[in-house]
Amino acid sequence: MSATASDSIMETGTFVNCFLLVISLVIIPVNGGYDKERDALLKGTFPQDFIWSSATAAYQIEGAWNVSDKGPSVWDTLAHQDNNRDTGDVACDSYHKYPADIQLMKQMGLKYYRFSISWPRIFPTGEQQDGVNQDGVRYYNALINELIANDIQPMVTLFHWDLPQVLQDRYGGFLNNHTNTTVIHDLFGDYARFLYQNYGDRVKYWITFNEPWITAWLGYGIGNFAPQHNEPAEGQYKAAHNIILSHAKAYHIYDDEFRAAQGGQVGITLNCDWGTPKTPADADAALRYVQFFLGWFAHPIYKNGDYPEVMKTTMARKAQEEGRTTSRLPEFTPEQKLSISGTGDFFGLNHYTTVEVTDACCTPIENPNYDTDKDVGTGHAPDWPRAASSWLYVVPWGIRNLLGFIKEEYGDPEIYVTENGRSDHDQDPAIMMDMERICYYMMYTNEVMKASNMDNVKVKAYTAWSLLDNFEWLSGYSERFGLHYVDFNDPTRTRYPKASSVFFKQLVRNNGYPEGSEFTKYVENMWYFCHNTTEAEVNGYTGGASQISSLFSLFLAIPMMIAYSLIA
Ligand code: BGC
Repeated sequence: MSATASDSIMETGTFVNCFLLVISLVIIPVNGGYDKERDALLKGTFPQDFIWSSATAAYQIEGAWNVSDKGPSVWDTLAHQDNNRDTGDVACDSYHKYPADIQLMKQMGLKYYRFSISWPRIFPTGEQQDGVNQDGVRYYNALINELIANDIQPMVTLFHWDLPQVLQDRYGGFLNNHTNTTVIHDLFGDYARFLYQNYGDRVKYWITFNEPWITAWLGYGIGNFAPQHNEPAEGQYKAAHNIILSHAKAYHIYDDEFRAAQGGQVGITLNCDWGTPKTPADADAALRYVQFFLGWFAHPIYKNGDYPEVMKTTMARKAQEEGRTTSRLPEFTPEQKLSISGTGDFFGLNHYTTVEVTDACCTPIENPNYDTDKDVGTGHAPDWPRAASSWLYVVPWGIRNLLGFIKEEYGDPEIYVTENGRSDHDQDPAIMMDMERICYYMMYTNEVMKASNMDNVKVKAYTAWSLLDNFEWLSGYSERFGLHYVDFNDPTRTRYPKASSVFFKQLVRNNGYPEGSEFTKYVENMWYFCHNTTEAEVNGYTGGASQISSLFSLFLAIPMMIAYSLIA
C-alpha cells in the first residue's frame, strides 16, 4: 500500500476521533476489567534502534510439502493421517510466493522478518550424510537474498516443530536416549552448522528452537501435536532435556566455528503464559507455574545450567510419593550444566496470554503428568476478553509482568519478543476490519513500552504473529492470526491487507506512541473502546463494537481499496 494511502487514514482520523470519543462515552457504560492506573496509555517512543518485525514458520506458510527431494516432517505425517484434516501441503504457498510476502513487509515498513527453515527441506532424512536437497538450499538463499535486497534483515529459526519424520522413526526424535550425549544432539548440531555455513554471511540472528515447551509437552507428553508420542508422566521431561542439550550444542558450534567471522547472535525462543495469583495466598503457586513453564528451559540456559530449584524439589517429592527411586525430571551432568549455562545471546520470548493460578498442593494422583506436577489450578477472570483460539484471553498487562520477571530472574538479558498476536475465526464475510486485533496490538505494544521505558527492561524487539493467515496447527485454517488475509480457496493464494496491517505500519513508523502525533491522538480516542468493547461482547453486547467498527471502516475504506489494487 502506498504511504499516501495509509497517511490519509491518520489525517481523516481527527474528524473520526471526535466521533469515536463521543460514541465510546455514550454507548459503553461499563468499566469492567479496566484499571485506570494500570491500563493507562503511556505516551512516548521505543529506543531508536528498536526492532519491529513479523513472523511466520515454514510448515505454516511454505506449502510445497513434497517438491524436489524434500523429506516428510512429523507434521506432514500428522496432517495426512486423516482426510478431513487441513494440511500444510499448499498453505500460503510461500515457497513460490515469497516475493509477494516480502512486498507486504515492505509496505508496512518492516526492517526485520522472522521465519523458520524446514529441516527436512534441507536434509530430507534429517542427516547430512544421506544427502542434501539442493533445491531446498537454493530456496532459502533466494528468500534471504530477496529480503536483503529489500532492506529487511532475516531472523532465522532453525526448528519450528517440523522434525524430519525419518529422525523420529530411526531415533525416537527428541526422546532419543536422553541421559547421555545422544545422536539427536549431534544431528541437530550438524544441521545448525550447515545453516551457519550456507547462510551465516547474511543471517545475523539465529533462534535454535521455537517454543520447546510445545514440542516437549504437546509433542512427546500428551501427544496431540506431532509426533504424537503419548507419555505424559515422563515424555516431556526427556524431550525437553534433549532439546536443551541440542540447543547448547548448536550454540557452541556457532561460538567456536562461526562467531568470529560472522558476528551474529544465537538465542532460543521460549513461550510462557503469565501466571497471576488468583488471591494473595496463591502467590507461590503462580511463581511455581511460571518456573515449570518458562524456568524449565530458561533456568538452565540463562541462569545456571540446571532446572529451577522448585521444579527439582517438587519432582523429588513426587518421586517419593509415587514410590520411584529416581525423579521423573532427568539430571544434567556437571559437564552438561557448564555447557548449557549462558548459551543465549538474547532471550527470545513468545507471549500471547495470561492465566489465573490457584494453589493445588499437594494431592498425589494416580496418573501423574506435567500438568498435575505443578500442583496448581488454572482459570481465567470472567472479564478477560477472548480471541478465536480457545486458550487466548486478552490480558495486556500480563506481558509487562512477564518481561519484568525475566529481567529480575535471568540477570537483565536483552529480550526479543519474537511472537505476540491474536486470532480471529475464519468466517464469511472475512474479518478485514479487524478491530479486535488492532486493539490487541495497541494494548500489548503499549505494555511492552511500559516495560521498556518505565521498568527499564531491555526489550529490544517486538514481533507480530503473524504476517499472514496460515496453517494454525491442529486448528488448521479455522483460526486466523494474520495481519494479511489469505484466501485459501483461491489457487493463487492472494494476500489482502487487513486494517491491522495499516495500524501496525503506523505504529512502526511512529516507533510507539509519541506525544502529539496524529497516530497517538487516534490511539488515545480508541483506548477506552479497546479496553471495554470486548468485555461488552463477553456479556452479549456488541452494539458498541459494530458501530465503531463500521465507522472505522468508513475512513479505512479508500486506503484499503487502494491497497488491494496494489498487492495481489
Ligand atoms: C507458535 C506459532 C503459532 C502461534 C499461535 C505459537 O505458539 O510459535 O506457530 O501459530 O503460537 O498459536
